[in-house]
Amino acid sequence: MTISGSDMSVESVVRRVVADHRDQRGALLPVLHAVQAELGHVPQEAIPVLADELNLSRADVHGVVTFYHDFRREPAGRTTVRICRAEACQALGADRLVSYARESGLTLGETSADGSVTVEQVFCLGNCALGPAVEANGRLYGRVGPARLGSLLNGTPNETLDGTVSA
Ligand code: FES
Repeated sequence: MTISGSDMSVESVVRRVVADHRDQRGALLPVLHAVQAELGHVPQEAIPVLADELNLSRADVHGVVTFYHDFRREPAGRTTVRICRAEACQALGADRLVSYARESGLTLGETSADGSVTVEQVFCLGNCALGPAVEANGRLYGRVGPARLGSLLNGTPNETLDGTVSA
């Protein structure tokens, strides 16, 4: 297989990650997680390399990448905000947060045009008793209201707003 010169860094990362998982059965998922950990997302140009290395079809790899919402196909924004929409958080008002994000011009699963923030939905952050729960750049927040969500979306978490910060 020939990979274009501009894809060489992606190709080298993918081939190295695959080599690290060579002896693992069902390596595609752990390889995809490792690629995303290194590159911040799973770029389109990684798919033919993965197919080649793992002896899968490109369609198989593409299908897995697009099926699991954990895999990003585009780089994330400078701030990543994940809103929990599972049952407990729904009961405590998570829909208000989703509406607030939408009213702010943000689309779940996408990055703002200026690259400042990516908003995602998740289904349980393990913080059910303190819902609605939101995670921002890996930090967990509980009892989040629209005001705090706004500060998180702006990349300026304000600890004095409503809500509880969980460790
Ligand atoms: S349901 Fe939202 S953290 Fe568990």
